[in-house]
Amino acid sequence: MTTALVTGATAGIGAEFARQLAARGDDLVLVARNRGRLEQTATELRERYGVRVEVLDADLADRDALARVAARLSEQDEPIDTLVSNAGFGYPAKLADPNTEPHEGALDVMATAVLVLGNTAAAAMRARGRGRIITVASLAAWITQGSYSAVKSFAKLYSEALAVELRGTGVTATALCPGWVRTEFHERAAIDAGGIPAWVWVDAERCVRECLTHADAGKAISLPTKRWKLAAFALQHLPRGAVRAISGAVDRVRH
Ligand SMILES: NC(=O)c1ccc[n+]([C@@H]2O[C@H](COP(=O)([O-])OP(=O)(O)OC[C@H]3O[C@@H](n4cnc5c(N)ncnc54)[C@H](OP(=O)(O)O)[C@@H]3O)[C@@H](O)[C@H]2O)c1
Repeated sequence: MTTALVTGATAGIGAEFARQLAARGDDLVLVARNRGRLEQTATELRERYGVRVEVLDADLADRDALARVAARLSEQDEPIDTLVSNAGFGYPAKLADPNTEPHEGALDVMATAVLVLGNTAAAAMRARGRGRIITVASLAAWITQGSYSAVKSFAKLYSEALAVELRGTGVTATALCPGWVRTEFHERAAIDAGGIPAWVWVDAERCVRECLTHADAGKAISLPTKRWKLAAFALQHLPRGAVRAISGAVDRVRH
């Protein structure tokens, strides 16, 4: 029996990771802030898949709460075999705004927590000689869109560096880099994504299914769907001036 810990497990991509891992027979530890939604998700997964589900309510921006989640990852009697570091959010905050609070909050949840949980899981898993760490970054890591791109660049590069350091240990690290996925993300951030054409969107089921196949194969970067692979390839090879122009255009269609 194996156990997966998923952060941001009550909605969107994280909820889909929890569901697909439970369908494979994994026991789960679900992490998010809203206790009611955690309990509801846990009940649904227990009833549907017959797996054991623990819940940990934790705001990953809070260092004490983050330490509680890290302690669960270090637990030797009930080891975690898969970490999915997924919790995150959008925030249309501008860089020329002297109030840096939204940017700092994003760094806490999508960079510091990724680092603390990733390092803790890597140490525990390496000692056992097996495990996998999936970090949800973004295609935004290839463009220049507010501090979100910088934060997601950190997550992507951290995960790639972890994959290098863990090579040959039996532990893998995979950075999932999604494009546009229909979740609560845009509504929560009050981002009007109405101008984004329908063909751009991918559903969370496919995104997670393909990512788990990539993680099973030990891939360092997971780019589900041909369109995201093509987008990443183009953004990697275009002159940076063109990438900055594209980033500005993307900003204009999503307000
Ligand atoms: N949707 C997209 O188009 C897209 C594209 C690229 C990358 N991503 C990335 O994918 C990841 C998941 O996003 P999503 O689209 O699935 O968003 P979502 O539907 O809004 O779900 C976000 C999840 O994260 C949890 N969460 C948010 N802040 C948290 C905090 N401070 N501490 C603990 N849990 C927290 C939420 O639960 P609570 O509110 O209860 O805490 C929820 O379970 C994020 O890292 C996001 O940046 C999304």
